[in-house]
Amino acid sequence: MSQNLTHARIEPATPLSVASAGARLRAGQLVAFATETVYGLGGDATNDHAVAAIFAAKGRPSFNPLIAHVADFDLIETLVQVDDRARALMKRFWPGPLTLVLPRAAHSPISLLASAGLDTIAIRMPDHDVARAIIRAAGRPIAAPSANRSGAVSPTTAAHVAESLGERAGLIIDGGPCRVGVESTVLDLSTPIPTLLRPGGITADQIEAVLGQKTQSAQADASAPKSPGMLESHYAPALAVRLNAEHAHAGEALLGFGAMDCTLNLSPTGDLEEAAAHLFAMMRALDRAPFTALAVAPIPEHGLGAAINDRLRRAAAPRS
Ligand code: TXA
Ligand code: MG
Repeated sequence: MSQNLTHARIEPATPLSVASAGARLRAGQLVAFATETVYGLGGDATNDHAVAAIFAAKGRPSFNPLIAHVADFDLIETLVQVDDRARALMKRFWPGPLTLVLPRAAHSPISLLASAGLDTIAIRMPDHDVARAIIRAAGRPIAAPSANRSGAVSPTTAAHVAESLGERAGLIIDGGPCRVGVESTVLDLSTPIPTLLRPGGITADQIEAVLGQKTQSAQADASAPKSPGMLESHYAPALAVRLNAEHAHAGEALLGFGAMDCTLNLSPTGDLEEAAAHLFAMMRALDRAPFTALAVAPIPEHGLGAAINDRLRRAAAPRS
């Protein structure tokens, strides 16, 4: 842990450090920064490779969809479809600790890995001057999960980030301790009845007062899965998926890994971070006629391979 501390670069938030954070993010590198809720590990939300680097740094054994953070109201409709309910909630609670899950806009530049292949995107505007200054300096939406290693508690100071992630955080911009200290409320507006996916600083009562409509809680729904990790839906290809394939059978598309003959290759050099960056876009590209099934080459289980295999096993699991 002390070794991580010596490698982590913490800089106070100044116009200069904010500008250099923006330049790093534009170059596809990671920057950890304060928001009003918890510190986020930020990367360019429009860059599959930057998003893959976030998952690698967190060491998470699965791909969870990430929140796209914005600093201003303009251009939001190029990212997600904003209806009247979303507009009213943004007007009342943004900037602030409310994340809205909305349908992906046509031609949205948000990385498919950032949304874990889903057709919806989570978006929020943090209520922290340093966070918004960094997003503006980057000039693009920033994907940012909490800036901790998988399984650790969420960090509310720059020192927490350094302890948990060390040099994996890239640059840490110190914006002081987080005011709220728990993650944002996540509200899914892609459903007819707004669904509370994660409780947080903004309560269901506050949301219902603005919407003039009841919300439902994902946890309260008896038919919903019990584990919080299973609450979000998952992208599943329409075609059947066969794993650990060395060759394509008749009609199959073969999604390859490493040097091999295949329809598309996740990473010809066998680089797991590159493979993660390409995973959802390539699965979608092959999930159509003339192919009748999707075969996927074996992926090693180390590093990001665990998350890739987790997603592939779900895709290949028998459907109900
Ligand atoms: O306060 C916060 O929200 C912090 C700060 C850094 O902004 N961020 C954060 O991100 O907590 P993360 O990645 O740890 O949590 C994102 C949550 C997860 O519960 C995820 O399942 C949900 O948002 N989520 C993201 N995209 C989604 C989508 N398209 N559909 C459903 N849930 C989604
Ligand atoms: Mg987290």
